[in-house]
Amino acid sequence: MTEFSFDALRRAPDVEADNLFAVDASDRLILDEAAEALEETAGHPGTVVVIGDNYGALTLGAAAVLDLHGIRVHQDARAGELALAANARRAADIDLSGRFTHQPLGRALLEGARVVLLQLPRSLAALDDISRAIAAYADPSVVVYAGGRVKHMTPAMNDVLGTSFEEVTATLARQKSRVLIAERRREGIAPALPRREHHDDLDLWVCASGNAFAGTKIDIGTRLLIDHLDEMVPDARTAVDLGCGTGVLAALLARSRGDLRVIATDQSAAAVESATATMAANGLAQRVDVVRDDALSGFDDDSADLILLNPPFHVGSTVHAGIALKLFEAAGRVLRPGGELWTVFNSHLAYRAALQRAVGPTRQVDRNAKFTVMVSTGR
Ligand SMILES: C[S@@+](CC[C@H](N)C(=O)[O-])C[C@H]1O[C@@H](n2cnc3c(N)ncnc32)[C@H](O)[C@@H]1O
Repeated sequence: MTEFSFDALRRAPDVEADNLFAVDASDRLILDEAAEALEETAGHPGTVVVIGDNYGALTLGAAAVLDLHGIRVHQDARAGELALAANARRAADIDLSGRFTHQPLGRALLEGARVVLLQLPRSLAALDDISRAIAAYADPSVVVYAGGRVKHMTPAMNDVLGTSFEEVTATLARQKSRVLIAERRREGIAPALPRREHHDDLDLWVCASGNAFAGTKIDIGTRLLIDHLDEMVPDARTAVDLGCGTGVLAALLARSRGDLRVIATDQSAAAVESATATMAANGLAQRVDVVRDDALSGFDDDSADLILLNPPFHVGSTVHAGIALKLFEAAGRVLRPGGELWTVFNSHLAYRAALQRAVGPTRQVDRNAKFTVMVSTGR
């Protein structure tokens, strides 16, 4: 049997810190609850799907302990995909890289699936998109083992799963974790399309899938940055909307400057799907490239004149500054000397020193009761 250790799992290239973990009790509980069903798939190779695995605990646990092959995996975060790939090479006494493939949420991921292991997303909209996709594409016999930390679970999650499955039951809690088991998928469920909303004040369609930040709304921090779009590097040729979410900033920037090349980038698959839909809905698909990438890893040094950033302050469910710092450093590398990084963040977050270190001279441009806008000049 393959020797495998959860303790060998790492989060890198996602932020690593003492209070951030690559595996938690809910991963182990999902695998334990699903163990019998997973063993029964032995006669049906390639029928196990993993969705929302954080850093590979579910995929590699199933691959190593139950000796599974042909696991199809969907992870929203690009950093999570990279961590799974790295862990596959290190967490067991054999290389598990060949045991799984990554797929977008859709037919190729789910067709013929009999067992789905799911780390419950925080957002009900994301859970709804996932459960509809499973009901639409998986084998009629499919059973979903959806687990999470009890403190992040709500009864509304049972209701959302109940829209797509006739039976939803909860296991007993263990180590502050619980699993919901959904089975007997309903007939006639269609996969979700991006939601959309027209914002008359900006004459802008905003489209959102899954857990995209702010959904079809426009965040009030984002709005404060929008007020300053006209002041940003007037002769910029290339601009990057870093952590673009639904693509609001990229869309408005591209629309207001006909000769600007705009790239919208995010590590989240749902964000990329959302931003792509936002560009199409506003006739901007030819003007904005939407790219899935972890912290500008595929961008050349000194290649952008302007970068816009409304950084996240959560890493998963933990409030942590590490992710903002990682994005500041990425922006500092990709910004050309003299280029500008415009950021907006909660006023209680003291980011000026970090911006000066990672990018260059930084000044405050605007501030209201909740948010601060700063501009940093690349060196
Ligand atoms: C606060 S939201 C801002 C979204 C959008 N710019 C807006 O203003 O509505 C932060 C975004 O950063 C993205 N993000 C987080 N970590 C990232 C990373 N390592 N690389 C790229 N994007 C990341 C998140 O997925 C999220 O969409």
